Amino acid sequence: MQYTVHFPGGQTDYYPSASTQDLLQLAPIEHTIIISDNNVAMHYGELFKGYKTIVVSAGDQSKTLETISALAKQIAEFEAHKTTRIIGFGGGMICDLSGFLASIYMRGIEFGFMPTTLLAMVDAAIGGKNGVNIGLNKNMLGTIKQPKFIATNPAFLNTLPSQEWSNGFAEIIKYACIADEPLWHQLRTQNLIGFQKDATLLSNIIHQCVQHKNRIVLADEQENNIRKSLNFGHTAGHAFETIYRLQHGQAVGLGMIVALIASEQNLDFPVHIRPLLINMLHQYGLPSTIDFNVEKVMHTLKLDKKRSNETIDFILLESIGKAKIHPLTFSEINRALQTFFDEGNR
Ligand code: GLY
Repeated sequence: MQYTVHFPGGQTDYYPSASTQDLLQLAPIEHTIIISDNNVAMHYGELFKGYKTIVVSAGDQSKTLETISALAKQIAEFEAHKTTRIIGFGGGMICDLSGFLASIYMRGIEFGFMPTTLLAMVDAAIGGKNGVNIGLNKNMLGTIKQPKFIATNPAFLNTLPSQEWSNGFAEIIKYACIADEPLWHQLRTQNLIGFQKDATLLSNIIHQCVQHKNRIVLADEQENNIRKSLNFGHTAGHAFETIYRLQHGQAVGLGMIVALIASEQNLDFPVHIRPLLINMLHQYGLPSTIDFNVEKVMHTLKLDKKRSNETIDFILLESIGKAKIHPLTFSEINRALQTFFDEGNR
C-alpha cells in the first residue's frame, strides 16, 4: 500500500509498511546518501551495505549547525549534486538534521525518511519542519520542506528501548488530547505493553496519528493557526527538557499537565480530567511529577519562539479532542507552573 499527500510545499509518498525491497527502490545506490546515527547503524547497518553512508552520534547534542557544516563537507566529498537523494534513516534527530541539510545543500536537493522510532513515525518525520538547535534553544534554525517520501516499517520498533516507546506515546497522547476523543478512550483502556504485543493495534494507531498530522499540516503548512495545536504540551515541555535534560516524551508529558492546569485556570476545563491524564502518562511509562524551579522554567519560557511581548501562545484544551490557541500572560503561565509545582510535590 502506498499513497501520496500533496502539501502546498511539495508532495510526499507514504509507504506505511515498507520492506527492504522498497528501500532499494526508493533509494537507488548510485544516487543516494544515507544519514543515520550510531545506534541505528548498530542494529541496521547491514541495510546500508553498498550505500554512501554517514553516521553521526546519536542524541540531540548532534542537532547543531556544526554537524550540518561537517555533513555538508562530507556529502560534497561524496560528490552529491542536484539529483542526489539524501535519506534520513533514524529517529527525530536524524530526520531534522538530514532534512535541513538536504533543504539547504545546493539550495535544496531531494530527501526521504525511513523513521526507526515511534516518535519519528508518528511525528518527527511528518510535516516538513527540519532544523537544528542553537545552544539551548531548540529548532531555532530550519526550513519547512516536505520529504519526497516517508517509508515506515513498524518492525524497526522491535529493537526500540522502552524509553523511546514512551517518547512516541507522549505524542500519541497529544493527538488524542488535541484532536481525537475516541483515541483518548482507547489509550485509557490499553497500555504500553498491550501495544508492544499487538502489531495490528500498533500499526493502526501509527496510521491514525499520521493521518492527524497530515490533515493538520495540509490545512496549515506554515503554522499560522491550526498547526500550532501540535505544540500542545511542548511549550512548557521544551523548557523542562532543556533545563532538566529530560527525554522529549517525559518533558512533553509534564508540559501537557501544565497545559491542562492552564486550561482549568483560564478556560474552565473540567478538573476531573487531570488525574486521568496523569494515569495515562503512567500507563505509557511517562512521569507526572518533577522537582523543578518555577523561576528557571519561566526564564527559559521567555526565550520561546512563540513569545510576543508579554504573552506566549499556549495550546490549551476546551475539551478532550478540542484544542484552542490561547495567549497566556507571564503571570498566568507562572500561576499554572506554581500550581503544578505545589500539587505535584505534595
Ligand atoms: N518534521 C516535524 C514537523 O514538521 O512537524
